[in-house]
Amino acid sequence: MAKVYAVGVGPGDPELLTRKAERILRQADVILAPVSRPGEASVALETVRGLLDESRQEIIHHQFPMTSDTNRLIPAWQGAAARIAGCVAKGKDVAFITIGDPLLYSTFIYLLRIFRESFPEVDLEVIPGISSINTSSAVACFPLAEADERIAIIPATAGMEKVIEALTHYDTVVLLKVKPLFSEILAVLRQMDREHSTLFVERVGSVRQKVLTDFTEIACHLPDYLSLMIVKRSPF
Ligand SMILES: C[S@@+](CC[C@H](N)C(=O)[O-])C[C@H]1O[C@@H](n2cnc3c(N)ncnc32)[C@H](O)[C@@H]1O
Repeated sequence: MAKVYAVGVGPGDPELLTRKAERILRQADVILAPVSRPGEASVALETVRGLLDESRQEIIHHQFPMTSDTNRLIPAWQGAAARIAGCVAKGKDVAFITIGDPLLYSTFIYLLRIFRESFPEVDLEVIPGISSINTSSAVACFPLAEADERIAIIPATAGMEKVIEALTHYDTVVLLKVKPLFSEILAVLRQMDREHSTLFVERVGSVRQKVLTDFTEIACHLPDYLSLMIVKRSPF
């Protein structure tokens, strides 16, 4: 029976794909790649393109707008789920590819809910991916947690109050989606005396990877969307 696979493709380096992900991507009949704008390159698709046989496999670019407006997002999620369910009903295996891990702040989580509610007959499997968090920690040899330390992961877009709360209560704080609130985050890190225990990583696993630990350099940088910070209570 045909199936949907949510495949985590890692942070952007094809060598950081699991062997299971590679096998499924080679076998799938349809690859669905999320894009935020028509014609835009998909990081997930570029990561796996070398494995695909475009003469045999169908590649669908499905648009998920970069917005918090649910009036635009819900139809995009429903449209993707219906498109995938339609392929499965025709006997085709579909791989939904996503950067990092599919169950860590990924669009796939919204689709999972829709599959459960509207297409319960569709068989579904999640293939975990190496997250941008693990890769960033690895490239900088910057430990995430040891012994009885506690770690929090927060999209900075949740608001500065939540960021401050996490920095106050946790030994390590991972901040995703730092771009929109970058200057506010920098100000808080200065106030909380974290200048010497902050790692900034952009586009990890790609040729554009940037890894910064010097706070002055971090503060001079203009981050792009694929950037994160890992902040420890004290320097490692
Ligand atoms: C919607 S979340 C996706 C997380 C992803 N599912 C994962 O497991 O890494 C997007 C955020 O993850 C972080 N991110 C994803 N890929 C990244 C990369 N290659 N380098 C640095 N940060 C990345 C950024 O903070 C970005 O704003």
